[in-house]
Amino acid sequence: MPKSLISIQDLTKDEMLHILDVAKEFEKNREQDFLKGKVIACLFFEPSTRTRLSFEAAVNRLGARVIGFPDARNTSVSKGETLEDTIRIVSNYTDMIVMRHPVSGAAATAAAIASVPVINAGDGANQHPTQTLLDLYAIKKTQGKLEDLTINMTGDLKYGRTVHSLTEAMSFFRPNFIYTAPQELKMPEEYLDFLKDRKIPYTETSVLEDHLNDCDILYMTRVQQERFTNKEEYEKVKNVYRLTASMLGNVKPNMKILHPLPRINEIATDVDDTPYAYYFKQAGGGMYVRMAIISYLLGYR
Ligand code: CP
Repeated sequence: MPKSLISIQDLTKDEMLHILDVAKEFEKNREQDFLKGKVIACLFFEPSTRTRLSFEAAVNRLGARVIGFPDARNTSVSKGETLEDTIRIVSNYTDMIVMRHPVSGAAATAAAIASVPVINAGDGANQHPTQTLLDLYAIKKTQGKLEDLTINMTGDLKYGRTVHSLTEAMSFFRPNFIYTAPQELKMPEEYLDFLKDRKIPYTETSVLEDHLNDCDILYMTRVQQERFTNKEEYEKVKNVYRLTASMLGNVKPNMKILHPLPRINEIATDVDDTPYAYYFKQAGGGMYVRMAIISYLLGYR
């Protein structure tokens, strides 16, 4: 079976560090063309700006070509074709499939059928492993290390797939986690059990101000409106946190604010001009990290 990236747990610690090193190499020289002749499908069954465009830019910078569709409603899925059949067909045309899908587990289903590597570009509320690798890239770049950091993940920890993947990835690096969320959006028990099994310390709070001053990374997330089945429940929590520049007076000097983006209202725009804001640069690194992931899975780095 080809090597796919479905969950961050598909990679060892050494593989993650290798991908970060390769991304650094590509950031120094992004004009590469060793994938000339390859065709990579970007199948996005859910909206995306960063993941899709950075993957497409990565494919182009590596010399390969991209195929995909602008909107899943224009595919034969709208006629009732299954994901399994879609993947069987696209496997015939391409060397790799990058897929985002609203259903948790859809990427694993695709990988089990595909004859080419599959990269999970986000499946429901489950995992977003390529986001995690670019998060690690940003953390390492800003802190100079991944080890012994206090990571405060704030917002929608229930439906936010990025915090699930990041928790698992950081577990290799002796982290101390702070999970800031209202009761309705707290980190799912399976991830807390994962930490307990590994004796990794974590603290839970619902108050944003509680741990702003003792973290190295403040990882903000938006409330994931599209995952709520009940509109009233979303309305109740949609404005739960709003980080403003005035709240950052006593944070650690090298603290950095990350966010997978898009942001809605959880980070005020006055934070953008502070030395702590790193979310736009974080997203910028995504292209190099995705170049590295593609190269690694295809056996070129
Ligand atoms: N971070 C992220 O997945 O952004 P997009 O939804 O824009 O791809």
